[in-house]
Amino acid sequence: MRIWALPLVLLALGGCVTQPEQDDGPVVPFKPFVLDPPALARRLASIQPGWPRSRRFDCARIKCVALTFDDGPGRYTGKLLDLLRKRDVRATFFVVGQMVAEDRGGRITRRIAEEGHELGNHSWSHPSLPGLPQEQVRRQLQRTQDIVQRLTGVRMRMMRPPYGATDDKVAAESRHAGLAQILWNVDTLDWLDRVASTVTKRAIKATPGSIILLHDIHGSTVDAVPETLDVLSKKGFTFVTVSELYGRRPEPGRMYTER
Ligand code: NI
Repeated sequence: MRIWALPLVLLALGGCVTQPEQDDGPVVPFKPFVLDPPALARRLASIQPGWPRSRRFDCARIKCVALTFDDGPGRYTGKLLDLLRKRDVRATFFVVGQMVAEDRGGRITRRIAEEGHELGNHSWSHPSLPGLPQEQVRRQLQRTQDIVQRLTGVRMRMMRPPYGATDDKVAAESRHAGLAQILWNVDTLDWLDRVASTVTKRAIKATPGSIILLHDIHGSTVDAVPETLDVLSKKGFTFVTVSELYGRRPEPGRMYTER
């Protein structure tokens, strides 16, 4: 490159990072989400479950249950986060990469991490993974890992295969990406009838160590959460993230359905 061109290139690059963010609200100066390494380390330490500041529970002795929300972030996720924060309850969110990409600069995805919840990988576009060539399975996981890490600093360590559909190939790719496969043992079928009271009725069948499957893309599911939390609390359950349920890092590639 000719030396006189350098200022022009720098100007052009500067233009890229000062573009205003796409938003419906008033235009505010765009602050790129870039952290220097020490700040990133501090942020990770404060938000990533399993890092030093995460909570410790002995789920071998107390009644733990893990609420898991799939397919978001969506339009009801913010309301769900408000609910969980008010009750100091932490959950696990298995996010779809495409939904993260549509999450207006990642603000809900970042809230999930910052408010102490765990993030899991639910593929990029929610296909049935066993039907895909190995390379596409890898890409489905990789793209989602990358966008979540770019927006939150969190490197996810668990995945949930869409539809719970998995095979040896999916297991191998999950292992390759450092991801444990997390399924569930309580299915609320919340996507089916979309009636809050029915969702609650199914969710409260949880037993100690259960992983409950829910979807935060349905308003009825979010409406079912307060009653579900009330009933399970009265039964003596403590709400934990999936990592907290096991008390250690789940093993990459291995499949888990409950504690
Ligand atoms: Ni799903």
